[in-house]
Amino acid sequence: MDTTERPSQGIYDVVGIGFGPSNMSLAIALEEHEASSPQHPVTSHFFERQPAFGWHRNMLLPSTTMQISFLKDLATFRNPTSRYGFISYLHAVDRLVQFVNNQDFFPTRQEFHQYLEWAAALLGDKVTYGAEVTAIRPATEDGGAAPDLLQIEVRTPDGGRSVVHARNVVISTGLVPRLPDGVRGDERVWHSSQFLARFRAQDPAGLQSVAVVGAGQSAAEITRFLYDSLPHAQVSAVIPSYGYSVADDTPFANQVFDPGAVDAYYFGTERARDSFWRYHRNTNYSVVDADVIRALYQRSYDEQVRGGEPRLHFRNLTRVADVERSGRVTRVALHSLLDDRTEELAVDALVFATGYDGVDPARLLGDFDRHFLRDAAGRHRVERDYRLLTASESMSCGVYLQGGTEHTHGLTSSLLSNIAVRSGEIADSIVLRRAGRDLDGAPAVRVASPAA
Ligand code: FDA
Ligand code: NAP
Repeated sequence: MDTTERPSQGIYDVVGIGFGPSNMSLAIALEEHEASSPQHPVTSHFFERQPAFGWHRNMLLPSTTMQISFLKDLATFRNPTSRYGFISYLHAVDRLVQFVNNQDFFPTRQEFHQYLEWAAALLGDKVTYGAEVTAIRPATEDGGAAPDLLQIEVRTPDGGRSVVHARNVVISTGLVPRLPDGVRGDERVWHSSQFLARFRAQDPAGLQSVAVVGAGQSAAEITRFLYDSLPHAQVSAVIPSYGYSVADDTPFANQVFDPGAVDAYYFGTERARDSFWRYHRNTNYSVVDADVIRALYQRSYDEQVRGGEPRLHFRNLTRVADVERSGRVTRVALHSLLDDRTEELAVDALVFATGYDGVDPARLLGDFDRHFLRDAAGRHRVERDYRLLTASESMSCGVYLQGGTEHTHGLTSSLLSNIAVRSGEIADSIVLRRAGRDLDGAPAVRVASPAA
């Protein structure tokens, strides 16, 4: 196929890459825009590489709860009357009364997953599953003119490839699992994002000794799960701090997740942005909900009360120095900061709950990336409306990010807290810019952005 061929039909206004909560929320915002302005429809389609909808399925552990209020759903903060809100879901499944009786702002992750599946089913005609986007290119780059159309390459599991065209893409491909340098995952060494699938593939009797690395929410939840699910096993928690630290979800600190905090961060000084991180990183990273911390401590204390050999071991101020694999055996070298010594531990399974990196759009943009501006630290510059800042003012096609904007828009970038409002802002931007182009052939909106 001639990849620079201009299509005669089938140009979408928006193609969304990934169909997790962020882009689902965008699909809803676009649908609701169309309902309120039927004379200005916005055509859109979304591609999701998973074969069916799923939200961090490998971490759907029993009893784990959401870290946001149920009202921070796909739509409510933007449109409280949306049919896609969590309350509408509860009504649809006939559980609204019981939910209210339960008096809990924080549903289980199982329940929130059911809500998302319900919403995904309603949006079924907007998404193609089993479709991985592999590249985004300009469809027109002849004669040096700024591109006005994008070409999106899509791969299906059977190896099939197709190309679609769009005026805008919204990249929302989620977090990228992070393993320490030099560590490679396999059937015995897992990242937390693979946890349940890997765990279920094992015979529990063969898991006599397991270790979990990290002191964040994933690590604490997995440690508790392994201790409860493997009553015969030794469970070691390798934690880099002296003990788990609590996630600050008290009301004043929680304001960092408000929609208004995005403006404060985006238009704030460099020192203000730095202060957000220094003072409030503990609302989200390397921290654990208080109830999970207490549940783990209770298990440890119960062991002491019962007496005998404990099987829950906390290796404080310890990091993984090396991992050696040989058949069924995994030897992990643990370096303790307490005495500066390294000790070896043999385990049947080793779980790295060592966090995630943000999305890097350059992976999908390839050569096209040179059209987008970067700051002094080499990060993409992003406009307030989440559109990548372009080198040429006249480039009318847009690449938007949902996720990967912590450096410009702050802590909510990788979270659910602000997705309804953010998706509304992206939808508005696409509609407004198109209206501007229709009027005078130039983009209508040039939202201020902080200095490079
Ligand atoms: P998400 O990762 O959900 O979706 C991205 C989608 O893109 C995936 O479905 C992926 O398959 C798809 N994709 C990737 N590359 C693709 C490609 N090239 N082509 C097509 N599709 C592609 N936050 C919060 O605020 N409250 C909470 O309670 C939690 N809980 C939580 C639990 C766990 C276990 C984790 C790991 C994280 C959270 N989070 C969270 C943070 C989390 O980032 C957030 O809940 C959402 O998943 C963000 O939604 P997104 O749609 O942005 O990404
Ligand atoms: P995280 O918060 O980034 O924590 C990663 C942990 O791994 C940190 O304690 C980190 O220590 C540690 N670590 C990294 N490299 C290490 C090494 N080499 N040796 C020892 N420790 C190492 O990641 P996460 O727990 O996966 O959480 C990610 C996101 O998912 C958060 O937003 C969280 O809230 C969310 N989440 C939510 C739920 C839920 O809703 N129930 C469940 C799980 C996760 P340092 O601090 O030293 O880097």
